[in-house]
Amino acid sequence: MHQKFPATRLRRNRIASWAISLSAEHTVTTHDLVLPLFVQDGNNLKTPIQSMPGCYVYSIDQLIIVALEAQQCGIQAIALFPKVAQHLKSESGDEALNKDNLICRAIKAMKDAGVMMGIIVDIALDPYTTHGHDGVLVNDLIDNDKTLDRLAEQASLLAHAGADVLAPSDMMDGRIGMIRSRLESERHQDIILLSYAVKYASKFYGPFRDAIGSQSHLGTKDKTTYQMHIANSKEAITEVALDLQEGADWIMVKPGMPYLDVIHLISLNFQAPLFAYQVSGEYSMIHHLAQTTQQPFMDLMYEALIGFKRAGAQAIFCYAALEVAKSLG
Ligand code: PBG
Repeated sequence: MHQKFPATRLRRNRIASWAISLSAEHTVTTHDLVLPLFVQDGNNLKTPIQSMPGCYVYSIDQLIIVALEAQQCGIQAIALFPKVAQHLKSESGDEALNKDNLICRAIKAMKDAGVMMGIIVDIALDPYTTHGHDGVLVNDLIDNDKTLDRLAEQASLLAHAGADVLAPSDMMDGRIGMIRSRLESERHQDIILLSYAVKYASKFYGPFRDAIGSQSHLGTKDKTTYQMHIANSKEAITEVALDLQEGADWIMVKPGMPYLDVIHLISLNFQAPLFAYQVSGEYSMIHHLAQTTQQPFMDLMYEALIGFKRAGAQAIFCYAALEVAKSLG
């Protein structure tokens, strides 16, 4: 380092807001954001999610309204999550494979209504199972290979329904390869696979599980036999390498804020587009901070989002994406 005071005064870069803006290394734009949305059966419903202020579970008619608004604001993609009615849940999660299920109908309805954005859907069984796990339970253990068959089936179904991006969030080994070859064999060669390659067994998913109603089923059980241990980062490299080799196009690290080091590590080691998921618990935390310290929510949110860009993410799943888009103008 050859810079020396006073020839170098870094405060010159901060002399005014125009200088700060011009010398900024990163920005967050609307095009960086994916808006996750929750959908339920019914009509004219917009049910508030208690632990996520400002977020709702929409019936399909209302979902369309929000999606079109997001589209108008320049958001490029939405991610859909179903809140499945209790009577449709089962031990094996069969409703996930019903070609007329809620999520398939939601995709079709949105396309019919003129939604042109990318539609991303989760591949996992947890919204559909009575035990709240992402896979098939055999003798109290998640059976990896039995789950793979179901996930490939679910992927095929959602591709037929018109989804643009399939996002396996289940953390079974080998699922990207299974799903990719299924899609190829059905001439769905242009479907993007966004792999939740690096998904930790995190406590920050609590509000999401409340929203889709999987927490009450899961009870005190956790997902530590398939989601990654929170202490690991080298393992993340192996997860990503395997998924890319099996045919993933995009890579997700989840949660976001407690794992910025992992996002950075993956961004340095791989060329594939990298997504960060600012999960439900992060969203709730920021809301709580805004409320208890009376600071603008958007300032806190923007600071958190730019952290993902600095760490090396291209895009971010963010429950506040619509609000952020509006405030960015
Ligand atoms: C389930 C899934 C989860 C999230 C997205 N897909 C929760 C889980 O693994 O239990 C969490 C998202 C969030 O907390 O915002 N396959």
